Amino acid sequence: MGNEMRIVSQGSNDKYIFTDVVDASEESIAMLRKLAGPNVDVSTVKLDITDLEAIRKIVKAEGVSVIVNCAAYTNVDGAETNQDIAELLNAKAPQNLAIAMKEVGGTLVHISTDYVFGKEPYNTPCREDQKGTPTGVYGLTKLHGEQNILASGCNYIIIRTAWLYSEFGKNFVRTMLNLTATRPELKVVFDQVGTPTYAFDLAEAIVAILKKPQTGIYHYSNEGVCSWYDFTKMIAEYSGHTACNIQPCHSDEFPSPVKRPAFSVLDKTKIKQTFGITIPYWTVSLSKCITKYTNK
Ligand SMILES: NC(=O)c1ccc[n+]([C@@H]2O[C@H](COP(=O)([O-])OP(=O)(O)OC[C@H]3O[C@@H](n4cnc5c(N)ncnc54)[C@H](OP(=O)(O)O)[C@@H]3O)[C@@H](O)[C@H]2O)c1
Repeated sequence: MGNEMRIVSQGSNDKYIFTDVVDASEESIAMLRKLAGPNVDVSTVKLDITDLEAIRKIVKAEGVSVIVNCAAYTNVDGAETNQDIAELLNAKAPQNLAIAMKEVGGTLVHISTDYVFGKEPYNTPCREDQKGTPTGVYGLTKLHGEQNILASGCNYIIIRTAWLYSEFGKNFVRTMLNLTATRPELKVVFDQVGTPTYAFDLAEAIVAILKKPQTGIYHYSNEGVCSWYDFTKMIAEYSGHTACNIQPCHSDEFPSPVKRPAFSVLDKTKIKQTFGITIPYWTVSLSKCITKYTNK
């Protein structure tokens, strides 16, 4: 997500500083240069967002008035056995960022997840004011992060998103591009339904929202609805990996430490109405991402 912010923020008049707990990988830097041109800012300031004093230091030194938090513990299965680190990164670290922004009258933009929902069975798109009912530790710690931000009293924009992918790092699209190219057959679950989100589109939405921020919780994914099976079928089609026989299966065929939501479609009415943004349909964005990635 952070790398897509780097690309999109190039067109902004605001000064952005990019931080990470480690240096950017060579692969990320090469991809950034490919997608955003040789002049893209690939510099990374080291920052551990679990360290409040370190955050305060950068905020003061650089006069930071907005933080866009793309960092998190995102391993949904791993969170079940690493509750402490998930809580530290997904709940305590956002609290630190919120405190730092509260102290300078700034704004925290924080990315949250559709997995704050899911335990209660429903089949209509989730609204922002709906009670969080996570199915596992990852969703629960992300919900705690939201609650900590609200309790801090800072100006905040919490954006819950879903099924995030991009050209960078490890994500579902990158995994399926590889598997559909190398396996003759593949089974993918069709009983979990949601909406993919191209991180580039979300980054564009964030940059647009920051022109006139309004505190609140919002939902953002691409438009449309699909299962992971449908998603994979389109990944194979757009990448030309048509030799792979992709079949739908049930979630219980892939035992996992955590039950994922069966239906986590987000209702995006609020973000569209508040900020006047339009959201691309999921297959259009998927096609763009795959074209960019395969032309690298
Ligand atoms: N992926 C999804 O499908 C999905 C769906 C819904 C919502 N989201 C949310 O969207 C946001 C972005 O997700 P993503 O998939 O882009 O995540 P990601 O690829 O896992 O990136 C998270 C980043 O956080 C960094 N980080 C870890 N510990 C840190 C620390 N102590 N200080 C500073 N940075 C630290 C990680 O660095 P290292 O790589 O070095 O650990 C990594 O660069 C997250 O808030 C996530 O919860 C994701």
